[in-house]
Amino acid sequence: MAFTIAIDGPAAAGKGTISKAVAAHFGFAHLDTGLLYRATGRRTLDGTSPLEAAQNLRAEDLQADDLRTPDVAQAASRVAAIPEVRAALVDFQRAFARRAGGAVLDGRDIGTVICPEAEAKLYVTANDDIRATRRFKELSGSGHDVTYESVLADLRERDARDSARAAAPLKPAEDAVILDTSQMDIDAAVAQAIAHIDARRG
Ligand code: DC
Repeated sequence: MAFTIAIDGPAAAGKGTISKAVAAHFGFAHLDTGLLYRATGRRTLDGTSPLEAAQNLRAEDLQADDLRTPDVAQAASRVAAIPEVRAALVDFQRAFARRAGGAVLDGRDIGTVICPEAEAKLYVTANDDIRATRRFKELSGSGHDVTYESVLADLRERDARDSARAAAPLKPAEDAVILDTSQMDIDAAVAQAIAHIDARRG
């Protein structure tokens, strides 16, 4: 039976970690939809047009190991503001969401645009300093040459662009439960997410 869990929120709020843990807990498939925009943005850095990149995306492009860099994140945020790019990626996401056996999708517009009928919706957020600190540790830990200040600036710039765009802007769905992870460790955040989803499963 299909059951869709939509997890949205700003950059580096903990969506990815929570989504993976929730998917493992329920035995659901997980799609990090940011990877679609990152893989599209990545191709534009080679000179491909955004729409061509989105239309020709292949599953293996999502596995590329250079999708986590700040340059690719910015390119992702820029292509994500183009309505035709978003439209090219809708069918894949919706098909994934309705697969038998359940699905967790995380992104910016899952609860609002991609899956407004999702059975459970969470909006994961945290304050800027906490998000930048977590992302700085992640990036510097994996060998990226970044400073805390540059990571903070990148997150703020992307959040501003992602929230201000006309097409599917970043915002909580009206029926989403807000999970602020600023004062929570990952285990507590995952436990709260699971409790909410259990309640929705009835
Ligand atoms: O989740 P992420 O940081 O990997 O996403 C990278 C960019 O992709 C983000 O800044 C905005 C865009 N994005 C989007 O517009 N809609 C989504 N569902 C997921 C990501």
